[in-house]
Amino acid sequence: MEVLILPEPDDCAIAVADLFTEAIEAGARVLGLATGSSPLQVYAELIRRHRDDGLSFAHLSAFLLDEYVGLDRSHPASYDRFIREHFTDHIDLPAERVLGPDGGARDPRAEATRYDELIASEGPVDIQLLGIGTNGHIGFNEPSSSLASPVRVKTLTDQTRQDNARFFASLEEVPRHVITQGLGTIGTARQAVLIATGEHKAAAVAAAVEGPLSAMCPASVLQLHPRAVIVVDEAAASRLQLQDYYRQVRAHKDTVGRS
Ligand code: GLP
Repeated sequence: MEVLILPEPDDCAIAVADLFTEAIEAGARVLGLATGSSPLQVYAELIRRHRDDGLSFAHLSAFLLDEYVGLDRSHPASYDRFIREHFTDHIDLPAERVLGPDGGARDPRAEATRYDELIASEGPVDIQLLGIGTNGHIGFNEPSSSLASPVRVKTLTDQTRQDNARFFASLEEVPRHVITQGLGTIGTARQAVLIATGEHKAAAVAAAVEGPLSAMCPASVLQLHPRAVIVVDEAAASRLQLQDYYRQVRAHKDTVGRS
């Protein structure tokens, strides 16, 4: 696991945009996209690079992590709509290649299976962006999720519904069920990049990076990933025990064999 501690959220967004740019320039075909507030500055930076620097997404596909059950794609709080409004409508990635579970499907469990098979056949995801919930979830894999889970229907915790209520008119409107890529699905991505900023994420980040591998902190599954990068600002890093070590690793990254 590589941990990048940077001063401010802006710096984190640039670092993550750099990782995406490198992956695209190295021939990535499939992006894994996340919703929530954490990736917004990353998307703004990638849009800017598309506009100003000619970064092209024309040959790429994108898979979403998750979706609310009961919200069709036109609903203002649907993740499909979110990703189009905040990212893919502003770049040259073809709209029909932005793929996610259909929250409006009549049979959500069958839809989860369809999406799982789609990722298996069109994947693997080359680079997967992740945020983290305050309870350690990634995607919508709540604590107690199987570390090997496929795409499936999950029930949200009260905490996650409260955390996400800001995107809805009221708490009652936040759906109870979601379709999410599983922790096993996320693990199939070639590279995983988690971005977290702010003090309110510090406990979850510490549990994910330095806690035990445990279904109680779903993001801890990234400890098993061969190429996981955790990008955090000072506030989100504040509860990490090995902060100094992570800074040293970064400072001496380019001196391997020279000291
Ligand atoms: C939601 C999403 C996650 C996201 C999390 C954190 O629950 N399903 O993918 O990581 O929120 O959101 P935020 O970045 O807004 O804190």
